[in-house]
This record gives sequence, C-alpha cells and structure tokens, in this order.
Amino acid sequence: MRVSDLTISYGGEPVLEGASLTVGDGRFVSLVGPSGSGKSSLLRAVIGLQRPLSGTIETKLARSQIGILFQDDALLPWKTARDNVALGLSLNGMERGKALAEAEAWLERLDLAGFGDRFPRHLSGGQRKRVALAQVLAMKPELILMDEPFASLDAIVGARIVKDVVALVEGQGISVLLVTHDLEEAISLSDEVCLLSQGPRAHIIQHYAVPIPRPRDPIHSRTHPAFAPLYERLWADLSREVDHRAEAA
Ligand SMILES: Nc1ncnc2c1ncn2[C@@H]1O[C@H](COP(=O)(O)OP(=O)(O)O)[C@@H](O)[C@H]1O
Ligand SMILES: [Mg+2]
Repeated sequence: MRVSDLTISYGGEPVLEGASLTVGDGRFVSLVGPSGSGKSSLLRAVIGLQRPLSGTIETKLARSQIGILFQDDALLPWKTARDNVALGLSLNGMERGKALAEAEAWLERLDLAGFGDRFPRHLSGGQRKRVALAQVLAMKPELILMDEPFASLDAIVGARIVKDVVALVEGQGISVLLVTHDLEEAISLSDEVCLLSQGPRAHIIQHYAVPIPRPRDPIHSRTHPAFAPLYERLWADLSREVDHRAEAA
C-alpha cells in the first residue's frame, strides 16, 4: 500500500500536508505523531471514509483483504463473542457451522477458549480487544490498519496482547500500518517508523528504519541496543520541529 503526497483538510487549513509512506508486503510500519497531527484522518482516507484534498493512495488489495482495528472495538453488543467473530466469515459466504468452528479456533488462539458464549458486556476490556482481533484475523487479511488499538488497555493486559499481535502478524506474514502517539510502542513493534510533526499542516519529519531483528518480543525490543539511540533521535527530531514552530508563531 502506497500513500503519496497526501493532504487532508477539513475546510480551511490542512491538518496533514504532503504525507507519503509505503507499507510493503509483510512490513510493520508505524505512523507516530502528536494528537491532532492527522493520523486517524490518514487511516480514514486509506479506507475511503475521508476524501483527501490531494494525493493518492494505491493498493493492490481489495477492501476485503484489509482488516481494521481501532481503539473502540466494533463488536455487536447483541451477539456473543463467537457470533461476532463468525459474522464476517458468514457475510463472506462461509456456511454457518464452519464459520462458528473457525471463530472458535481463533478465540482459542487468542486465549479466549470458553468465552465464546459471552456477550461483549460480560467481557473485560482486554478480552473484548482480543475478540475484535480474532474477528480481524479470521478474515485472513493481507494488511491490518490499526488506530491506537492498545491505548485503552492497562499496561500489563496491553503488553500481553501486543505480544500476541506481533507473534500472529509475524507468523501469518500480515502487513500492518499502526497509528500511535506512543514513540516506544512504535519503535518496539515496527520495521519502519514514520514520524509526524505537530498539526495543523503536519508533515512527515522523517522515516526511520528499526534495526531490531525478528521474531520480536515487544518487551525485549525495548532493551535491544538499537532502541534507546533511535528513541533519542526521534524525540530530538520531534522536539526540534515543535520548538521551530513555537519560534515561528
Ligand atoms: N470530521 C472532522 N471535521 C473537522 N475537523 C476534524 C475532523 N476530524 C478530525 N478533525 C481535526 O483534524 C485534526 C486531526 O485529527 P485526527 O486525524 O483525529 O488526528 P490524530 O489522530 O493524529 O490525533 C484535529 O485537529 C481534529 O480536530
Ligand atoms: Mg487519532
């Protein structure tokens, strides 16, 4: 998936200006930047929910090959966890019994064996996130777009899910574009970090390759010798942009 020179505006001044990034096959790319820098807007543009002012988005993938994981899960409250996961498969034409069996297998893979009959309101935040993830993975996507999906989870629950997500996308060769405001999360998970400046008129300051080998354990990634220097560099580059803007104002 390739985003070229994308500018997004809500009426007046652009929130995001001239952003370009590429997510190659099997690559984990993060777009990281301050709140309001247009990250969610960019993701909405990729799935066609937001019309950019200019720029292009190219992908060889059909919409059905792109999974979405947002901060607020999109589970249907009146369906059980298993039915929620099976829903997309059924809509794709899979016979109901097979869809339910597939759904159960994904719930088990995500440590939710025995929770299939529960409704979303009877699951914890972390469990709901796992159901949403099972829902996405069951569709066998080529690319997953994630918008701060772990932000609402507490540290321990979040760390466990992130670890599972990394193992699953690495194992299945799925490409990911993760949007986050968390520099550490971006570095520890990604092959490449695209750093956005502060909005409005946010632009991509730079792209950074993350030289931490795979398979990765996201917690141990943070103690890899390459982690701290890269974090310092991103932080310095971002701070310079913010200071520069403050001086110009
Ligand atoms: N539908 C909208 N109409 C008007 N302004 C919007 C809309 N969506 C987002 N914005 C504004 O655009 C800016 C970027 O928003 P967003 O893409 O959500 O940023 P981020 O995800 O990086 O926090 C913010 O200032 C936000 O208030
Ligand atoms: Mg956002």
